[in-house]
Amino acid sequence: MGDVFDVLADMDDRSVDLILTSPPFLAVRSYLPDDHPDKHLEIGQEPDPAAFVDTLLRLAAEWRRVLAPYGSLVVELGDTYTTDDAAGWPMRKSLAMVPELFRIALAYGIHPLTGAESPAGRWLVRNVVRWVRPNPPVGALGDKFRPATTDIVVACTSADRWFDLDAVRTAPRSDPTKPAMSNRKAREVDDPRILSKANGSGEWHPGGVPPLDWWEIPPGGYEGAHYAVWPPKLLVVPIQSMCPRRVCRTCGEPSRRIVHRERMADPVRHEGQKNHPAANPRSGFFDPPPTDWRYRPETVGWTDCGHDDWRRGVVLDPFAGTGTTLAVAHGHGRSAIGIDLDERNRRLAAERIGPLFFTQR
Ligand SMILES: C[S@@+](CC[C@H](N)C(=O)[O-])C[C@H]1O[C@@H](n2cnc3c(N)ncnc32)[C@H](O)[C@@H]1O
Repeated sequence: MGDVFDVLADMDDRSVDLILTSPPFLAVRSYLPDDHPDKHLEIGQEPDPAAFVDTLLRLAAEWRRVLAPYGSLVVELGDTYTTDDAAGWPMRKSLAMVPELFRIALAYGIHPLTGAESPAGRWLVRNVVRWVRPNPPVGALGDKFRPATTDIVVACTSADRWFDLDAVRTAPRSDPTKPAMSNRKAREVDDPRILSKANGSGEWHPGGVPPLDWWEIPPGGYEGAHYAVWPPKLLVVPIQSMCPRRVCRTCGEPSRRIVHRERMADPVRHEGQKNHPAANPRSGFFDPPPTDWRYRPETVGWTDCGHDDWRRGVVLDPFAGTGTTLAVAHGHGRSAIGIDLDERNRRLAAERIGPLFFTQR
């Protein structure tokens, strides 16, 4: 419990394997009551986008220090509409473009609004995942479309980060020698919500297709006294793919999956088939280039440094709120550390972690 900067300052260098978090968004909502003694420390109350990005970059500098060299940073950020004509903001009614500013700062190592060097240095921005909510609040519309997405930036500092794509492949890909799937079938195969329907078991499928970079997942599933709670499902793919299952305490190396890629038969065009599945992204072949889809991955083992001194991978959520990240991490055999300023969240997190521990795989 406590201010994120204070708690991070006490953490050891390279002590976590994945940082997975959703900070308060700028000027969207206030979590602590106005008379709370720590109100002035609450993030998201900065006066303008430049100050908010500055806070995020100072945080990212600390995240970089505590993150293992092979680790990843995953941050969900939503944007804000400018409500008044105020210095330091875009014109009234415009988006402030905060998620874009943050990831530009990560990639280029400069604060895009002030030109200052970023204290967080340069990162490899590997993905921007769009979290699509099928049922967003209506809000004020008038002259704009209904906002239904937030961005999840995925960044790291090493070109050889720990990443286990084979842990999160979804349904089995179809045989390229067979005619293309219908569009409906193809959508089912790739839709995490109907994963169990797609492969019958509810398991990820190591020979399946890699997830796309947009995830349609409804928010909610939590009735407690906290806003902006993550749905557990949102966290499963990041944890499975970016937090190692085990890391050696002696040499600091994570164990990596060893994959044998078996060459699949060459695709053949079938009579009456207009587009070959590999040429048609809606057909069920979601992982070009062809060098990937022609090989069926098979796990043959895990790297082992030989020290026999393993610890579990560690996920850090520096804005833990009700503890969704901690619960899903534990449920997937990882250790987890959560930080939050609001003491009330400790109880909510404890309530939440119990049942989730056993229901998440
Ligand atoms: C968007 S919520 C996180 C929700 C969380 N993902 C969940 O599923 O419950 C942001 C959290 O940041 C916390 N927070 C705000 N300022 C903070 C600070 N300076 N230090 C630590 N936590 C802070 C708030 O109390 C709030 O719980």
